[in-house]
Amino acid sequence: MSTIEARDLTKVYRTYRKESGLRGAIKGLVHRRYDETRAADHVTFQIEEGEFVGFLGPNGAGKTTVLKMLSGLLNPTSGEARVLGFVPWERKNEMKRQFSLLMGQKNALWWDLPAQESLELNRAIYGIDRKRFRKVVGGLSELLEVTDKMNVMVRELSLGERMKMELISALIHEPRVLFLDEPTIGLDVVSQKRVREFLRIYNSEHRIVTMLTSHYMQDIAELCDRVIIIDRGAIFFDGPLDEIVDRFSGDKVISLSFPDGTQHDFSSFGEVVSQTPVSVQLKVPRAQVTETARKLLQHCNVSDINVQEMPIEDVIRSLFGERHAQEMDRTAKTRAA
Ligand SMILES: Nc1ncnc2c1ncn2[C@@H]1O[C@H](COP(=O)(O)OP(=O)(O)OP(=O)(O)O)[C@@H](O)[C@H]1O
Ligand SMILES: [Mg+2]
Repeated sequence: MSTIEARDLTKVYRTYRKESGLRGAIKGLVHRRYDETRAADHVTFQIEEGEFVGFLGPNGAGKTTVLKMLSGLLNPTSGEARVLGFVPWERKNEMKRQFSLLMGQKNALWWDLPAQESLELNRAIYGIDRKRFRKVVGGLSELLEVTDKMNVMVRELSLGERMKMELISALIHEPRVLFLDEPTIGLDVVSQKRVREFLRIYNSEHRIVTMLTSHYMQDIAELCDRVIIIDRGAIFFDGPLDEIVDRFSGDKVISLSFPDGTQHDFSSFGEVVSQTPVSVQLKVPRAQVTETARKLLQHCNVSDINVQEMPIEDVIRSLFGERHAQEMDRTAKTRAA
């Protein structure tokens, strides 16, 4: 049995549209109008023990919705899921004791209490043994470098410190499954890195299953071997991170260095990404890389040549960026017609 299983998990949100004025209100009584958003559409995947999975997709794709269903905060419209063998929305206590959901946009700690006391309350709620609790919190706070902040009121902590406390709070009961919804959002580069390192160490030491959403590609690249991409509620890709580049990037980047400097116009060889007197970077369709490289070497005095894949971040951005641009184009045309 997989640790997490989702089969045809679907969530349709209904939002009632109110029409203005009394007539609208009366009309609404007779004939309710609503909008439907298919936030998750037959989402199917399995995650095995110890996996660290990145959950990606543009804004509004349905990531938080799926995580909420897997955490039992939302009932699905249809479909099935099991987390550690439990149906999440049945909200069994045995499951609650074995998983955690951390939402970077929300805070779970008591605002007016020192972090330590807030954690104590959670200890009581989960019924964790005192000795065990002290050991776990001690270890985590050291790893996250917040031992000297444990007695500061949560409201007075910096954003990064608060997020670290949230992480400790999410881990005090030593869950086997961890859902992280944008745990590094808004953090400065240094704190982001610290949290990332922590997650990497924690995952490898505890073999805990982690699902992570983040808009920072570096989080995903450093932590996740596997990524699931969701777009408009539907799974769009599920596989190793590297495969995204293979499958979706039609281009490679050729970099050239010149010993003597040149002002040559390279636009006939490919799309010029950047150029200095001593170097140029060209985006070239995959199938033409060899031929183009050969021509370039014939054509100019080159001291170094290098062919690379496109950065994953660019590939994903262009995937969604292009699609959204097409859509906007279509909407504009429909409107004009
Ligand atoms: N309670 C709700 N009622 C109605 N619509 C909702 C509700 N929650 C989310 N939605 C809609 O469902 C869709 C998916 O939202 P969701 O929050 O799951 O996306 P997301 O992938 O987490 O996006 P982001 O990257 O911005 O966090 C969006 O179109 C959103 O507007
Ligand atoms: Mg979200």
